[in-house]
Amino acid sequence: MRDLILGIETSCDDTCAAVVDSGGHVLSSVIGSQTDLHARYGGVVPEVASRAHSRNIVPAVRAALEEAAVDLGDMALVAVTRGPGLVGSLLVGLMAAKGISWGVGIPLVGVNHLTAHMWAAALDSGGDLPVPSVCLVVSGGHTELILIEGLHEGEGRLLGQTRDDAAGEAFDKVARILGLGYPGGPVIDGVARGFTGEELTFPRPMKDDDSCDFSFSGLKTAVALHVEERRSGLGLADTGALPEDEVARTAASFQRAVVDVLVAKTERAVRLAGVDTLIAAGGVAANSELRLRLSEVAEHLSVKLVIPPPRYCTDNAAMVAAAGYHKFATRGADGLDLDVDPSLTVPVGAGGEPG
Ligand code: KG4
Ligand code: ZN
Repeated sequence: MRDLILGIETSCDDTCAAVVDSGGHVLSSVIGSQTDLHARYGGVVPEVASRAHSRNIVPAVRAALEEAAVDLGDMALVAVTRGPGLVGSLLVGLMAAKGISWGVGIPLVGVNHLTAHMWAAALDSGGDLPVPSVCLVVSGGHTELILIEGLHEGEGRLLGQTRDDAAGEAFDKVARILGLGYPGGPVIDGVARGFTGEELTFPRPMKDDDSCDFSFSGLKTAVALHVEERRSGLGLADTGALPEDEVARTAASFQRAVVDVLVAKTERAVRLAGVDTLIAAGGVAANSELRLRLSEVAEHLSVKLVIPPPRYCTDNAAMVAAAGYHKFATRGADGLDLDVDPSLTVPVGAGGEPG
């Protein structure tokens, strides 16, 4: 019989718990979103997030067990995100995981959130991460192209990364500039999907240079300048809302620029690495235009594209369980003295975690 893993994820503003088996099959994945709590502030407020995690973590674990029709006593392992993320939020998840580990008598394993995003690609598809492969990690805090050469320590290699803003951060900031609210990615995705008119030409920073690096802050500034110009052209106040069709045009043109750069750099990385599998992971990988364009590139390059369904791209605990199982199987459990590490970096090179 397959082992069952309880996953816990509280690195940012979602309180997540999941039950996954050792073959990567997801029995339940519960996501307690705090969007409503943070929306009025236009972004995540760390103190509000950790308090909400404290209230929500036990109900989330209970719901995950109930949905999977299992008991805590059926779990063979508890896996939890230990960083990167907000320190207060991470602590709530880690303390819950430690309590379960000690109380139930099962091993505990701490997981790098970015490693977990990559392992989303193994969910409901056999439980293994395809190697060698190139992985585009695009989230609220990260934009990286990683060559996964093996699943053991130090076997990931960084091919490129953002030099300033992360792709998700750019989506969130532009949504705020356009008055579209938080979180920006899904809203811009939705607004852009409905737009069929002529687009604006925003810059594609670093798109054609010979690196696999990214830069998004200039694009965000270009959008802000455009909005300012249009406001003054229309005689609106500094914070006045642009007409709906202009908001849609701006959002769609911004998204097209981001996706163009992400896709061009990913194509470059796949060619350079000479692999035949491409993985996309992280919240921005839920973007409908990016998904479509990556599938076209994969077809064009004759490589296999592994892109988890949107619910496993954005933060969830099923990916933590999958990554945790692999880490436990290869490196064993962590002790109850495990601590959070809010500034844990991308899992590559010497000292990094397994892909
Ligand atoms: O991976 P994730 O859920 O959390 C982090 O680890 O950061 O990613 C969140 C980011 C946010 O910036 C959000 O706006 C973005 O992913 N995002 C999207 C979409 N869904 C979430 N960006 C573009 N299109 C989407 N559909
Ligand atoms: Zn994430």
